[in-house]
Amino acid sequence: MLEASSPAKAILFGEHAVVYGKPAIALALDLRMSITAKEGLKTRVDGGNLRMRRHRYVKWAVENLWSGGPISFRTNSKIPRASGLGSSSALSSSVVAILQKMKGSWNEKANALESFEVEYNVQGGASPTDTSCSTHGSGILVSFEEMDHHLWTISKGDRTWYVHHIEPPEMRMVVGFTKRPSITHIQVNKVRDFYQRSGFARETIDEIGDLVREGLKAIRSKDMVKLGSLMDQNHSLLSILGVSSKELDKLRDSVEACSYGAKLTGAGGGGSIIALTDEPERCARCIERRGGVPYIVKNTRVGTQVKVIDG
Ligand code: MEV
Repeated sequence: MLEASSPAKAILFGEHAVVYGKPAIALALDLRMSITAKEGLKTRVDGGNLRMRRHRYVKWAVENLWSGGPISFRTNSKIPRASGLGSSSALSSSVVAILQKMKGSWNEKANALESFEVEYNVQGGASPTDTSCSTHGSGILVSFEEMDHHLWTISKGDRTWYVHHIEPPEMRMVVGFTKRPSITHIQVNKVRDFYQRSGFARETIDEIGDLVREGLKAIRSKDMVKLGSLMDQNHSLLSILGVSSKELDKLRDSVEACSYGAKLTGAGGGGSIIALTDEPERCARCIERRGGVPYIVKNTRVGTQVKVIDG
């Protein structure tokens, strides 16, 4: 029997703008999704067949990346679904790790490339930010140009993303989940419409790009005050793009007095905010009082892991 697990991710800066060639920074979080796999009589996930809608990531991976016999998968996730924390990327990275390990060909770069294919094809478009972060762990910077020594490049059509390792300091954070789902393709399409018809939207995307470069400097100098203030600014720019919501704003405002800064993370619309803080319990209480579900988290170095277990 094999077991693979992958971390959640939080985009610290640059979601949506990364779709238009701007850089983005994502961190791996210490919430994990794990999956076990063994040979079976029929390919199944948690006892259900692959026709089920919620199994479409596993289905695409098995149908396109696997030519062996049936596999029985069991999943166990601590990452809330549709929360903006990358539960589908963690699932894609973990399934790919299982399939590569079964073929005897697992390595981190191949894992990142194939899990991006899974997510891209199931969602009908994606940047490699989420899947590369989940596979690699630590932190990553994704950009259309080489900004430092890079881990790998990922190409789709005429676009090539450079994925770089970054070394974030230990950061204490609180996620506030709105309990409303964040549906990535809906929010990405909404921003695309705005981007195509408005110079103001294009300028806002440019501003996010500049802010990500400042964010990288603040991470390198471990400047939490600056990071928090940039997170606040990034949230305002994402609101201009139309991807915040009443619930997200409410949770973000609730942690103003107990955090360095906070912003929505991921595609938005619903999903979560992330706050950078020295007072995680206090932030968690504020989030709960305003109707959100808090998760006290830290960033982690550990990306996708796969191993043989007894079973
Ligand atoms: C979703 O987590 C991040 C977006 O930038 C989409 C993407 O990068 O694929 C909104």
